[in-house]
Amino acid sequence: MCGIIGISSNKSVSSSILNSLKKLEYRGYDSAGLATLSDGVINEVKSEGRVDSLEKNFDLKNLKGNIGIGHVRWATHGIPNSVNAHPHSSHNVSVVHNGIIENSTTLKKSLISKGHNFKSQTDTEVIVHLITENLRSSELELAITKTLKQLQGSFALGIVFKDIPDLIVGARRGSPLAVGYGPNENYLGSDSYALKSMTNKVTYLDDGEFCIVKKDQVLFFNEQGKKINKKILELSSNEANYDKGDFKHFMAKEIEEQPTTIKTGIKEYVDNLNKDISIFNFPWNIDEINSITLIGCGTAYHSCLMAKYWLEELTSLEVSIDIASEFRYRRNKFKKDTLYIFVSQSGETADTYAALDLCNKNKMKTCAVVNVIESSIARDSNFVLPIHCGPEIGVASTKAFLGQILVLYILILKISSLRKEIDKDQYHEKIKDLKALPSLIEKTLLHDNDIQAISSTFNDAKGSMFLGRGFSYPIALEGALKLKELSYIHAEGYPAGEMKHGPLALIEEGMPVVVLAPRDKYYKKTISNMQEVIARGAKVLLITNKSDNEVVSENIWETIEVENTNDDLLPFLLTIPLQKLAYYSALKKGYDIDKPRNLAKSVTVE
Ligand code: M6R
Repeated sequence: MCGIIGISSNKSVSSSILNSLKKLEYRGYDSAGLATLSDGVINEVKSEGRVDSLEKNFDLKNLKGNIGIGHVRWATHGIPNSVNAHPHSSHNVSVVHNGIIENSTTLKKSLISKGHNFKSQTDTEVIVHLITENLRSSELELAITKTLKQLQGSFALGIVFKDIPDLIVGARRGSPLAVGYGPNENYLGSDSYALKSMTNKVTYLDDGEFCIVKKDQVLFFNEQGKKINKKILELSSNEANYDKGDFKHFMAKEIEEQPTTIKTGIKEYVDNLNKDISIFNFPWNIDEINSITLIGCGTAYHSCLMAKYWLEELTSLEVSIDIASEFRYRRNKFKKDTLYIFVSQSGETADTYAALDLCNKNKMKTCAVVNVIESSIARDSNFVLPIHCGPEIGVASTKAFLGQILVLYILILKISSLRKEIDKDQYHEKIKDLKALPSLIEKTLLHDNDIQAISSTFNDAKGSMFLGRGFSYPIALEGALKLKELSYIHAEGYPAGEMKHGPLALIEEGMPVVVLAPRDKYYKKTISNMQEVIARGAKVLLITNKSDNEVVSENIWETIEVENTNDDLLPFLLTIPLQKLAYYSALKKGYDIDKPRNLAKSVTVE
């Protein structure tokens, strides 16, 4: 959340900062700003809204300065407007910040008593004034060390100084920050995505560290202000994937890319020759693991729930799942024989990272299922299972969800086979079915016109419900999340059998309800629950799989039949129409599909 860029160069930096901010916009888009240093002056420009507004409102090409910092904001303290936009500056210091300063109120009081004036409602401004204050009595490195010690909470910072015009200071605690190395220039970035278009050589700061970035040199320091050496890593880069191509939105492109996501995942983990699953370098003996806990947020949490159903079906392991923001503050009973799996597209989600950190501190076995392999969660886990779906830019997670559940399913099949809980033939049969999945997804993607037509009814409704049982329940939750996130329509996901315990009261004449009832072992029960909502006036969109047997129920409003496969894999197919429903609904409403209001792609604050 919030994106940071800093560039120290031998040429003007404003255009490059602007380009980077456009790339970083997925991290926050309620305001944007930048500051450059030239002729002993801090040139600060900022604007409410998108980077486009910043570009329109200011003549950035003529903004002088070979050194500068930029920021895109996702508001935490203070409403999104140009005053609260970053950078925040005093007469001699300018700061961009990602994170939350928890003791800002106390610090602000003390700074005001020392004569400092505040302009914004943000927590960030205290950092500006603290540094300004500390620079009165200390040299740069000591002033930074002192300032960081006074701050409670989380931060990634980029700081420039009017009187020390040849450097940027970067600092990290809890929020990711990386340094990049280029020809006659060096960079600071809140993630490697922003840096990738300029360099593939990066160093990640660890918590507590800070750095000084000059155009021809980068120095690193630990929490005590002692110089340290850090490794330079090489990033894999694939710029082509950052393009929308012929699609109107990244989300549309990412939905259509899902057959490739699954193909790539299968290629990565399935050994065709031996008809086996290969998970290389798995660091533990399978007998050491008696239970599995899966942790994530939002869509990634739905992947965890999906995995729980599969794990229970295919193994006798104890399984629990948790929402990361809850897990991190509960009194957990850590067990040596538990494998903790952290699921995250970005690998930077603050709550998921904190849960991982807690497990690491308790010396647990940790495994990351991530998309961004250079991310903090990937780097700090004992073992990483990448989902290989390429950059996901749309804020709504689509292909990453399918990628996550694919990798989790593959892992579960492997565990089941290693524990001898599935017989060989069945194991091979399931691998065979898996290989057919990409083409089934391709066919399911063809349900396009019917879903477009159906989406209008959802747009006209006060709210909607998504129901499913068993393997379809996580998908119902995911479908509801997609619809509310993109179309701002109230949508609830529920276990179909739970409706009569309260939510049935919400059903009224004409309310659209999506019922996921594939012909699995829950089919008949779900169909009964569907009849209960139809009887109360709901307009039911039934999503099931193709079969020779007709659905025995009257008064279904619309039916979509996805392809047929084994029960384990139906959730992959059921997801597709729900993603499209949310997409078309938002499209008709004219909303910003890739950047829904109030949200951001990478949630790096708690
Ligand atoms: O990067 P992560 O997978 O850790 O992100 C977790 C959630 O913030 C994310 O899945 C969110 O719920 C999506 N925007 C939903 O579409």
